[in-house]
Amino acid sequence: MEYRFDVLVIGSGIAGLSFALKLARHARVAVVTKKDKLEASTNYAQGGVATALGPDDSFQLHVEDTLKAGDGLCHEDVVELVVRSGPDRIRELIELGVEFSRSGQGQVDYDLGREGGHSRNRIVHAKDMTGRAIERVLVAAAEANPNIEIFENHLATDLITRHEALRAGAKAVRQQRRCWGAYVLNRETGEVHTFAARATVLCSGGAGKVYLYTSNPDVATGDGLAIAYRAGAQLANLEFVQFHPTCLFHPHAKNFLISEAVRGEGGRLIDRRGRAFMEHYHPLKDLAFRDVVARAIDTEMKKWGDDCVFLDISHRPADFLRERFPNIHDKCKSLGIDITKDPIPVVPAAHYMCGGVITDQSARSSIPGLYAIGECACTGLHGANRLASNSLLEAMVYAHEAVRHCVAELADLRRQEPPELPPWPAAATGDRENRSEMVLIAHNWDIIRRLMWNYVGIVRTDKRLTLARNHMAQITLEIEEHLPNIPLHGDLVELQNVCLVGRLIIECALMRKESRGLHYNLDHPQKDNEAWCRDSVIEQSS
Ligand code: SIN
Repeated sequence: MEYRFDVLVIGSGIAGLSFALKLARHARVAVVTKKDKLEASTNYAQGGVATALGPDDSFQLHVEDTLKAGDGLCHEDVVELVVRSGPDRIRELIELGVEFSRSGQGQVDYDLGREGGHSRNRIVHAKDMTGRAIERVLVAAAEANPNIEIFENHLATDLITRHEALRAGAKAVRQQRRCWGAYVLNRETGEVHTFAARATVLCSGGAGKVYLYTSNPDVATGDGLAIAYRAGAQLANLEFVQFHPTCLFHPHAKNFLISEAVRGEGGRLIDRRGRAFMEHYHPLKDLAFRDVVARAIDTEMKKWGDDCVFLDISHRPADFLRERFPNIHDKCKSLGIDITKDPIPVVPAAHYMCGGVITDQSARSSIPGLYAIGECACTGLHGANRLASNSLLEAMVYAHEAVRHCVAELADLRRQEPPELPPWPAAATGDRENRSEMVLIAHNWDIIRRLMWNYVGIVRTDKRLTLARNHMAQITLEIEEHLPNIPLHGDLVELQNVCLVGRLIIECALMRKESRGLHYNLDHPQKDNEAWCRDSVIEQSS
C-alpha cells in the first residue's frame, strides 16, 4: 500500500511529537513508531530539562557548563541557540499541561534539581518521572489533532531517496539526491508500505541496545542512524557514547536508571567496603562530569574485582526520598532494596549517543528533504560529552527550528509532487511463517552486544577496537549470507541496524587517535587539539 503525506515523522518521542504538533498547524503529518506510541526513550527520562531559570543562574553559566562538558567539540552557536530557547520551550510544555515539580518558594516556583557538571541548580523536573509526564501530554495532544495520524507497530526499514526513485524511472529527480519518504514495515501484518512525503524527519532516538548493558528501552536500536547512513547521509561523532554511571545492578532489573538527581540531592558513591571514592578522581566528586564518574566506577570495579559499586542516599530523611524519588524508591523496594536505609547497587551502562546524523540549525541533514532531531541527530550541542538533561531541551529546540524551516519551504515543496515510487521488492517480504532460523538473529544479536561492551566500552585500546572491527566484519558477512532467507521481520531489521551502528561506532573510535570526553583510549591517553579538535565525520562511499 502507498500512503501520501506532506511530512513523515519517524519516531514518537519528544522530538517527533513536538515537531508533529507544531507542523500540524500547516500540514498533514504521519508519525510512524515501531512499537506502542508511548514506548520511546523520552518516556524513561528521569532527570528533566536543563534550563537557566534560577535567580543565581544565567544563560552564560549554562553555556559555559555545556562547553566544559563537551570538551572542545561543542559548536558554540548551537549551544547559544539551545540554551537561550530553553525558557520558551519549557513554557510551551507547561501550556500543554505538563506538571513540573514546584518548590513553593521564591520567585522561581519550579523546583530546580542539580546533576553532574552543572554549576547551578537548573533541572526542571516532574519528580523522577519527567519523561513520562512530558510524553503522556504530547501523545494526548497528538492523538487529538486531526492533522496527525499515528501508525503504531510500524518500523521504517529504509529511506526512499534518489536511487529508489530512479528505479521507477522518475526523470525529475535524476539530477539530485533527495528523500521522498520511507519504506515502513507493518510489524503486525509483515507488509512493507511506501510512505511518500515531501519531507521526512528522523526522530528515532538512540542506539543503547548496541551494548550489552544499557539504560535504554528495547526500541533503542539505532534505526535512524542506520537508515540515514544507508541512504548516504553524513554522520558524525559516533565514538562518543555516553555511559550513565548509575544503572541499578540487580538480576531482575532490566535497564533501570538511578537518576543523577540522586547524587544531586547528596547521594554518594561508595565501594563494597563502604569507602567513598570520587574524591580521588575529581574535585567535583560525585557530581563530576559523567565520563569521569563512569570511568572512576569502571576503575574501582576492575581494581577490586567487584561486580558493582553502591550509591548511598540513606542519610536524607525518608519522607523526602519517597516524595522526591517515588519511582526509584518503589522500583528498588520491589526488589528488596530500601533506599531510605540501604545503599543501592549500581553499574555504568550505555545511555546516550552524542553523535548522529549531521544537521544544520534547521535540523536539515546532508540529504535534501531529510531532517533529523533528537538523539539520532548530531547538531553540535553535545560535542564530546553531553551535559546531563540537555537532550530533552535540544529535541524541543530543534523541533521548533525545523518547523520554522519546513513551513517556509512548504509552499515550495507543495509545487513538487513526490515522483512515482517503486514498491518495496515483494521478494523481500517472503513467508513470515518460516521462523526456523530465528535463532541466527538471537545469536548474532547477543554476540554483537557483548562484543561492543567488552571491546568498545568505557575504556578502549587500539587492539580491542581492531579486533572488534574484524569480528563485526565476520558477523556482517554471516548476516548478509544467511539471513536474507529469513522473511523480513522486525527483529531482523533491528539486528541489521544494530550491526551497522556498531561498525560505525568502531570506525569513528578507530579514527580518533586521542582521548577526549567520552572517548578514552589507553593507547592515546592525551587530547590532541592540533589534529582532533574536530568532529569525526563518516559517510558511505558510493
Ligand atoms: C538522569 O536522570 O540521570 C538522566 C538524565 C540525563 O541523562 O540527561
